Amino acid sequence: MGENREPLPAILGGTPAVTLDQEEANRWPLLTREDEQAVLEILRDGRLSIHPVIRELEEDYARFTGMDYALAHNNGTAALLAAFFALDLEPGDEILVPSATFWASALPMLWVGAVPVFCESEADRLGLDPADMEKKITERTRAIVVVHLWGLPSRMTEIYEVAKKNNLKIIEDASHTHGAMWRDRPCGTLGDIGVFSLQGDKLAPAGEGGIFLCRDYEYYERAVLLGDITRIIELETPARRFAATSFGIKTRIAPMSAALARIQLKHLPEHNRRRNNNLIYLSEKLEELGFHTFMAPSHIKRVYFEYIIRFNPDRIPLSLPVLLKALQMEGCQVSMPRYPLVHQQPFFTEGHFQSILRLPGNVPVPEYAPDTLHSTMVGNQHLVKLPSFPNAEKELLDQYVAAFERVIRHGVEIMNSSAALEADSESTPSAGEDKGG
Ligand SMILES: Cc1ncc(COP(=O)(O)O)c(C=O)c1O
Repeated sequence: MGENREPLPAILGGTPAVTLDQEEANRWPLLTREDEQAVLEILRDGRLSIHPVIRELEEDYARFTGMDYALAHNNGTAALLAAFFALDLEPGDEILVPSATFWASALPMLWVGAVPVFCESEADRLGLDPADMEKKITERTRAIVVVHLWGLPSRMTEIYEVAKKNNLKIIEDASHTHGAMWRDRPCGTLGDIGVFSLQGDKLAPAGEGGIFLCRDYEYYERAVLLGDITRIIELETPARRFAATSFGIKTRIAPMSAALARIQLKHLPEHNRRRNNNLIYLSEKLEELGFHTFMAPSHIKRVYFEYIIRFNPDRIPLSLPVLLKALQMEGCQVSMPRYPLVHQQPFFTEGHFQSILRLPGNVPVPEYAPDTLHSTMVGNQHLVKLPSFPNAEKELLDQYVAAFERVIRHGVEIMNSSAALEADSESTPSAGEDKGG
């Protein structure tokens, strides 16, 4: 009789809170006729392998970041390999790198004989933990790979201090941070060498592609030598003599990808604005509900490659598997984040890395134990991934908020239900499947 009853969560028999279509809202990349036209032009032109559009893309990235040299690659992994090669390391030199990242931040270094030394990630920004970095420095440490995970710039002030004190080079893997700024400086320019992936999920995608950036001509020249014979021919230094071979691989981007990358970079500011507006709106509401949403401090302009929040078990009366299940039943697309910790992978723990990293006899073989990096492991167990809503309207976000509210309000009831028992026993949370980068 006119009783205003709170809607029950779907897991307790209610109707789901999220009813709007999510396909368009979460569609990515956002491609228009302009993208089609740019690719078609290359196709009709017929120069499918070597085309001026590659140089134009490099100029765009040099201008966008302010870096002196840009070299386009066929993917971000190749651009990272070029970055490690550029440093001209000795076999057994060590590089500090997070374990909480996509594998390509670390693995290419093995091909130039460098040893990844995995460090903890800190809880505020999910990037390298400067205190742990200090502990891992040895006389062989030469460089640091900084990864701004999910779009949030790392603790650069402290990282710079560690780098300066120990004379370490910085490779900045900016694959998640197209358009982000740290103290008014663009990500991609914060290291000695910067790398962007242009893989299809990224904020300025090319399908497949990568950009290598630096200020130092020597680094640029070594990157050219590694994998781009068309550029070696153009060198005006004695290094031109390698034009008939390169240093053994081929990393040039395809012109159709470069053409797409140019259009996507052009529209990056408006695409980022849309994600940011949506996710800041959502974050403010989820903070009120007891989640930590990694909002950026004032000296940082973050972007959202992916939208990750932290669940606080002290503030939310549900276990993570039950929370995820209850939200999924409301229609929310939530999961655990998708990168498993790199140091725990069989490639390292079973010793397979040695088939690539052939260290000289006087250098000890590193050991990788899966039970190390405890705080990163624990921190990872409380992360939740939501869609990044690149194309969503506020109504859908409000439905998500309603779903979260409903589930949390009935948290105790849900935890006492048989559905919760099932969810808890079915799933041990683990990182999701990694699609492509
Ligand atoms: C942090 C990070 N680094 C490097 C890469 C490698 O880039 P690509 O997939 O373009 O080779 C990716 C993603 O793909 C990434 O997420």
